[in-house]
Amino acid sequence: MKGPVFSLLALVITSVLLTPSPGDGSTVSPVRDFSAVLGQSVTLRCPGNLSVPIIRLYIQRKQTNVFINGFDDQYLLKVHPEYRNRTKVNRTDLSMKMSNISISDEGSYMCVIFYSRTSKEEPVINLKVTAEYSVPTVKAECGERIHSNGPATGGKSCQLSCSSTGGYPLSVVEWPVLHQSLIRNIENKSSEDPHYKTWTINQTIMYSCDKPTNVSCSIGSAVSHPITICQEDSFPLRVIAATAVVMAFVLILILGLVLMKCCRRRLRPRPEDPALEVPLA
Ligand SMILES: *[C@@H]1O[C@H](CO)[C@@H](O)[C@H](O)[C@H]1NC(C)=O
Ligand SMILES: *[C@@H]1O[C@H](CO)[C@@H](O)[C@H](O)[C@H]1NC(C)=O
Ligand SMILES: *[C@@H]1O[C@H](CO)[C@@H](O)[C@H](O)[C@H]1NC(C)=O
Ligand SMILES: *[C@@H]1O[C@H](CO)[C@@H](O)[C@H](O)[C@H]1NC(C)=O
Ligand SMILES: *[C@@H]1O[C@H](CO)[C@@H](O)[C@H](O)[C@H]1NC(C)=O
Ligand SMILES: *[C@@H]1O[C@H](CO)[C@@H](O)[C@H](O)[C@H]1NC(C)=O
Ligand SMILES: *[C@@H]1O[C@H](CO)[C@@H](O)[C@H](O)[C@H]1NC(C)=O
Repeated sequence: MKGPVFSLLALVITSVLLTPSPGDGSTVSPVRDFSAVLGQSVTLRCPGNLSVPIIRLYIQRKQTNVFINGFDDQYLLKVHPEYRNRTKVNRTDLSMKMSNISISDEGSYMCVIFYSRTSKEEPVINLKVTAEYSVPTVKAECGERIHSNGPATGGKSCQLSCSSTGGYPLSVVEWPVLHQSLIRNIENKSSEDPHYKTWTINQTIMYSCDKPTNVSCSIGSAVSHPITICQEDSFPLRVIAATAVVMAFVLILILGLVLMKCCRRRLRPRPEDPALEVPLA
């Protein structure tokens, strides 16, 4: 009923009354770091003095002062619907379990701890959120290497792209098996999901090689399946295929010519046929 109003009033009044006074040893704000995985849960613990009775705890976002959850011996606290179902406070150890973590939960939180002897502490804790990148897919498009000077040696120039999605924070593509000095960066494409705030990464590079090479790429701890580039037989195969087509064409041509000659030879005696056959009949 009046709970929400009271809790807000209490927060405002106590905040005004109990502004940390300089030199007060109890206002030291130690920083603690926590990490969570997107969609999973985390238990944030406020570093308070547990040997002193605590009458209320307000956990709020540091930048915005948005109240998340807590407890109060005197007033009923109004928890925002967004956090009501996903947070649970344990007053014994001043912890808060937060479930279904999203990227927007990342940041700093302030634990406003009120001790019974009208002193308070405001330690700050930090939450880092991570999301695993999907197994990257690597694609290759290879062509004959174009030499600016000298003849071609049969080497290949490949355009390789590596892409992965759903990760956080923004990461970089790595090509562990390739010679770093032979990698020429073509394009980096990174886009952020407008809702989930996760990243999709796609890097395209050029790479030249003379012998078969198994390539894989990695983004974070996710590693792609390897693919083989610069296969030796891919170039001769194309030549063989082209030769076969040309030879087939030539054969058909020769066959055609032979057939035409045969037909002409057979056609020529035809007008004489009746004359030849009549006496026989
Ligand atoms: C906690 O409070 C007790 C009683 O006031 C005090 O003796 C102790 O030093 C405090 N501990 C810390 C870590 O502040
Ligand atoms: C919280 O959970 C209750 C039932 O468990 C549900 O009715 C309500 O819609 C949920 N609120 C939010 C904001 O998800
Ligand atoms: C609260 O924390 C204490 C100490 O870690 C633990 O023993 C207790 O089971 C917790 N209570 C709940 C409801 O999780
Ligand atoms: C978890 O949060 C996302 C939004 O961040 C929401 O779409 C999803 O329904 C939530 N899942 C559960 C089980 O509450
Ligand atoms: C692309 O990202 C790589 C690191 O993955 C970096 O070395 C390179 O300079 C970037 N290139 C461009 C064009 O942004
Ligand atoms: C990555 O970028 C390259 C070059 O723009 C493109 O060919 C490839 O399809 C992209 N990969 C994905 C998975 O979008
Ligand atoms: C590439 O991988 C294939 C099968 O995974 C293997 O047979 C081949 O020997 C590898 N080639 C090189 C050059 O490592």
